[in-house]
Amino acid sequence: GASESVRIVEVGPRDGLQNIREHIPTSTKLELIQRLEDAGLTAIELTSLVSSKAIPQLADAQDVLGSPQIQRALQNPLLRLPVLVPNVRGLQTAIRNNVKEVAVFVSATEGFSKANINCSVETGLSRAREVISLACRYNIAVRGYVSCIFEDPYEGPTDSAAVLRCIKSLLDAGCYEVSLGDTTGIGRPTDVQRLLDYLVGNGVPLKKLAGHFHDTRGQAAANAWEAYRRGIRVFDSSVGGLGGCPFAPGAKGNVATEDLVHMFHSAGIETGVDLPRLIETAQWISHKLGKSYSGRVDTALAIK
Ligand code: HMG
Ligand code: MG
Repeated sequence: GASESVRIVEVGPRDGLQNIREHIPTSTKLELIQRLEDAGLTAIELTSLVSSKAIPQLADAQDVLGSPQIQRALQNPLLRLPVLVPNVRGLQTAIRNNVKEVAVFVSATEGFSKANINCSVETGLSRAREVISLACRYNIAVRGYVSCIFEDPYEGPTDSAAVLRCIKSLLDAGCYEVSLGDTTGIGRPTDVQRLLDYLVGNGVPLKKLAGHFHDTRGQAAANAWEAYRRGIRVFDSSVGGLGGCPFAPGAKGNVATEDLVHMFHSAGIETGVDLPRLIETAQWISHKLGKSYSGRVDTALAIK
């Protein structure tokens, strides 16, 4: 019969790079995006339009977006290429650069909200609503993120009711989907199960949710699998397992895209991604960044 499939949102060029201190040339970022596209990824978060003091690595966002390569890609109706924006100013820059989709982000908790976007959860939500309502007028799709679904890096455990409140607010305002961020990577499958049961029990449609799991404690792929079993069909991940947020100290990268793809393909679940090409890209970017490649799927597939 028709096979199952999941949608993967590749966040490598944004989450993957944002916390790296060493200068990365714009040309390397563009080549990364091209290679990801060539590997079959059809949803790629390109960059973020945020304060360059907060995230110096992505200060070249406008050069990335304005490049002929990205301007061409933005015209391709088969690709979703969101850009992260914290406020209306970021949205306006996105609009000027022909961006068709943006992502807004809030935290379920006060500590991370203050550290990450310098305001309360409530103010973060109202800024997000402003962005969403203006974006809707420009026919720009908006994805939402809720961070700290399990814990706040400064305050400890998160109340699930706070996660629910943020999700509802973002969906009501017009986000087509909300991605659940385990920002610090503390969650385990039992935590995923508990939170999803709670959200579904409170009327959140699983079709509107995505999973965004950081891999600090090695549980991210297991968490994605548990979320899949519970009905989630969209997953954020980062090539080579890059990623992390400077305002969540100690958090490791996102689940590696190649690990997710390998896991889903082995279960007969389609992703549309060419795994050998993706692994090659993971090795290439790791080398470019002077890191040893941390993936494990390459050895599983005996690809050198
Ligand atoms: P602020 O200091 O409260 O407000 O920052 P501000 O309006 O005074 O802005 C500060 C500076 O940023 C000013 O520059 C503004 O002009 C500039 P200065 O005058 O000092 O030179 N600025 C901007 N520049 C470019 N584009 C803009 C923009 N807006 C202001 N759109 C603000 C508030 C939200 C701007 C700041 O805190 C910020 O940019 N934060 C973003 C932090 C960030 O990007 N974090 C990482 C992404 S979130 C994440 O990783 C989690 C996620 O992956 C999910 C998960 O894992 O949970 C999504
Ligand atoms: Mg993240």
